[in-house]
Amino acid sequence: MSQIITHEKIETTNSSGVNYDDVLKQFGCSTITPEILHQIKQITGTDTLHPFLERSLFYAHRDLDKILQKSIKNGTNDFYLYTGRGPSSESLHIGHLIPFIMTKHLQQIFDVPVIIQITDDEKYFHSKNHTDTLELYQTYAMKNIHDIIACDFNPDKTFIFLNSTFSNYMVHNLAKIQKKINLNQIQSTFGYGLNDNMGRVSFPVCQMVPAFASSFPSILSKSGSIVNDSPINMFNYKYENPNTFNDCLKQLRNKQCLVVAAVDQDPYFRMLRDIATKIGEPKPAVIYSKFLASLLGKQTKMSSSVINSAIYLDDTPKQIKKKINKFAFSGGQETLELQKELGGNPDVDVSFQYLEIFCSDTKKIEQIREDYKSGNLMTGKLKQSIIELLTNMLTDHQNKKQKITDEVVQKYMTPRSII
Ligand code: TRP
Repeated sequence: MSQIITHEKIETTNSSGVNYDDVLKQFGCSTITPEILHQIKQITGTDTLHPFLERSLFYAHRDLDKILQKSIKNGTNDFYLYTGRGPSSESLHIGHLIPFIMTKHLQQIFDVPVIIQITDDEKYFHSKNHTDTLELYQTYAMKNIHDIIACDFNPDKTFIFLNSTFSNYMVHNLAKIQKKINLNQIQSTFGYGLNDNMGRVSFPVCQMVPAFASSFPSILSKSGSIVNDSPINMFNYKYENPNTFNDCLKQLRNKQCLVVAAVDQDPYFRMLRDIATKIGEPKPAVIYSKFLASLLGKQTKMSSSVINSAIYLDDTPKQIKKKINKFAFSGGQETLELQKELGGNPDVDVSFQYLEIFCSDTKKIEQIREDYKSGNLMTGKLKQSIIELLTNMLTDHQNKKQKITDEVVQKYMTPRSII
């Protein structure tokens, strides 16, 4: 079996999908253990876990245990969440929802702020089509933001920004990180070479910066706790207010970040964790998910750029039905008779993977798995279950999205204290 996992490409020859233990070994992060899940339950005071955690869709981490231990010890959750989205097309697909659903859930159970970076610049730098403008990616970004807001983030505790229009105090940490990385490191970690454009080569640093709380002094501090982050304040002029800007930064250097991402994003944060202590910042913690399979099979992930590989958030019930019935790779047998005799293979079946991820009823999933394997359940019926589930899920999402006005978007995108 061979597999390639980079920040740009996911591919395996294995029909039941990526070997995630190998990814852990390749990247050097840890598994989310039962002890960690127990700590989460302890902090939130409930016995139930989100299905994404219970079913190990989120399966890997760095320092999550440390963040949780600190919360248990101090009795407060003094961290913030960071995730992002590269707006490569007008619409998100259901795989893109996974980090946002998880981030929203973590925000809810820990009552912490969320920073969401929209990397319109990244997708512009990576575009091979010379007629694609930065403005085009800005339009995609704004459309994607509606889908993100529809995930129900707390409007008082969430800040969403576009890389092409917001930088504020982030440039300060940008400079410090840039100084610590040379071209050799960028080339060996991200594979960029001498013929890549400057934007592409320098972009990784832009994705790293939001993982330090001190990049957001006026956003991650209590409102009124600093006078403001005007240039004069930043150089530590004494004001009547005893909290100078530098005091504020000092405090923020105790606030850790928890990044929520798919595991292919690890190269960014692994590199940043190596630099963090050198520049006096805390190492960000991370929690990583597995990928949602392409409709066409578990050898690759769902992708906007491969036709018929994805179910989009704005697909109609008719489109969902057609895509699942026509394209979803099946682990079933060729004929009804053979299916009854030999049973199907849920491990390679894409519809089954989607059920495993999005159906909240664990007993139902186990029943379907057994029935499918034993030949009691036909592929058509299995597909019917996932069609119904996705239709309900997406209708609900589309209704929420429709209600999002410009004022709502404005609120999430206004720099302000979200503590
Ligand atoms: N690079 C990510 C993408 O292509 C977007 C992104 C930016 C991101 N910042 C992030 C993802 C932080 C996870 C966490 O979609």
